[in-house]
Amino acid sequence: MASINSEDLFKNIISHAKEYGFIFQSSEIYDGLSAVYDYGQNGAELKKNIREFWWKAMVQMNENIVGIDASIFMHPTTWKASGHVDAFNDPLVDNKDSKKRYRADVLIEDHVAKIEGKILKEVEKARGRFGDAFDEAQFRTTNPRVVENQQKIDAINTRFKAALEANDLEEVRQIIIDLEIVCPISGTRNWTEVRQFNLMFSTQIGSVSEEASTIYLRPETAQGIFVNFLNVQKTGRMKIPFGIAQTGKAFRNEIVARQFIFRMREFEQMEMQFFIKPGTEMEWYKYWKETRMRWHRSLGFPEGKQRFHDHLKLAHYANAACDIEFEFPFGFKELEGIHSRTDFDLGNHEKFSGKKLQYFDPELNQSYVPYVLETSIGLDRMFLAILSESYAEEKLEDGSERVVLRIPPFLAPVKCAVMPLVKKDGLPEKAREIMDRIKYDHNCFYEEKDNIGKRYRRQDAIGTPFCITVDHETLVDNAVTIRYRDTMLQERIPIEQVENILNEKVDMRAALRKLN
Ligand code: GAP
Repeated sequence: MASINSEDLFKNIISHAKEYGFIFQSSEIYDGLSAVYDYGQNGAELKKNIREFWWKAMVQMNENIVGIDASIFMHPTTWKASGHVDAFNDPLVDNKDSKKRYRADVLIEDHVAKIEGKILKEVEKARGRFGDAFDEAQFRTTNPRVVENQQKIDAINTRFKAALEANDLEEVRQIIIDLEIVCPISGTRNWTEVRQFNLMFSTQIGSVSEEASTIYLRPETAQGIFVNFLNVQKTGRMKIPFGIAQTGKAFRNEIVARQFIFRMREFEQMEMQFFIKPGTEMEWYKYWKETRMRWHRSLGFPEGKQRFHDHLKLAHYANAACDIEFEFPFGFKELEGIHSRTDFDLGNHEKFSGKKLQYFDPELNQSYVPYVLETSIGLDRMFLAILSESYAEEKLEDGSERVVLRIPPFLAPVKCAVMPLVKKDGLPEKAREIMDRIKYDHNCFYEEKDNIGKRYRRQDAIGTPFCITVDHETLVDNAVTIRYRDTMLQERIPIEQVENILNEKVDMRAALRKLN
């Protein structure tokens, strides 16, 4: 198939996700709701499997990590203490001609990404010229055009970081003007001042208006863990270092809502707070960076798809922070955050609640407010990473084409499709017998409509790793054909082996073992 540019590829992925029941726009019959999405029958399965892989890797595999499920609504003072009421803001700027609103930091980051794109082009050109002898590191430090562009990036980042740290919004605006950034709609540089905008959604609790008070939809799941720190520590008799994990919905009134499920207003997080002795945070920061990167790399995507990116501006609660970025079809973007949150949250909850949130350390014979190392990944972003990396448009040897989702088998929404070759002669009954044996362990799909080739294509398109076909021979030799999604090879196997083969090939345990 002719090579496709990444913008078109991304469009194809989005329409594929809809066509095959992965993701729908929310309330589509009313023309949708911006940046809100629903997961369809295959999407919900894939999402559940990713969540389970995370949960097992974090909770089940670590004796000192336990999981909870806290509510979305929390006492409003939680968000005062956490700093979200005062500091959970995005810097916004409007273009006066198009009346479009943008995040000032995103405008600057996109500008930097364009310069990075120029560097990458030079690097790839040189790689083509020099072949195996190419030394990228040397090229990046000696090629005059690359060096000049890298200096530009460094200068912008330094200036932008200083402006953010000083909360100097006039300077942020000046950077946009000096970089000659134009509005993509109007093409003009007619910008308003930059203002801060709080991202939390609020609503009222209580039925009588005089008694009602404002509460927030949680913008991160983490606070449900902090306020339960002592409950879990005491009831679980946990000893530091230990972690509390949870998955759940979070809500942010995102201004720049684009790139499909990358930036949503309602999304799901998978977070883990690791409670540690003060002073040990850098050691644990390193440990969790490596551990989380190993989890990502265990999925077997090509080398270089993930990278670390240190935060330019630390969040109000962090003393060290980085992202694990993934190369989405629209470039490298944040997939997971790893933050050293110090005692900021527990310390503030102590202050605001008046309750002690301390741990008695028997080794030191003293109490302290633990420090916290956090890993926080967006489930929807992980879903998008897997979907976009698995999606392939292929031209086959016979000249036909197929779209296949090469999802790691243990995460695939449907593990196996069972198909009678024809809808008669006792083949459906035999196929049903096989379904009845495997459905207890795996999400399987029974299908008898259309010719077998079409059925294979439909399963390829949703990423089903194995198809089992029952034909007339089956009634004689009690064997079936297993067809593999990735190679399209077919083999004859005894029905007796179907369960074992399937159990082995889609086993999440093998993926978990790779993490050790
Ligand atoms: N508790 C820390 C925290 O919430 P964050 O970097 O703001 O940190 C963590 O968010 C992760 O949540 C991100 O790395 C991203 O994967 C996901 N996330 C954040 N905002 C999102 C959004 N609007 N849509 C989808 N995922 C989002």
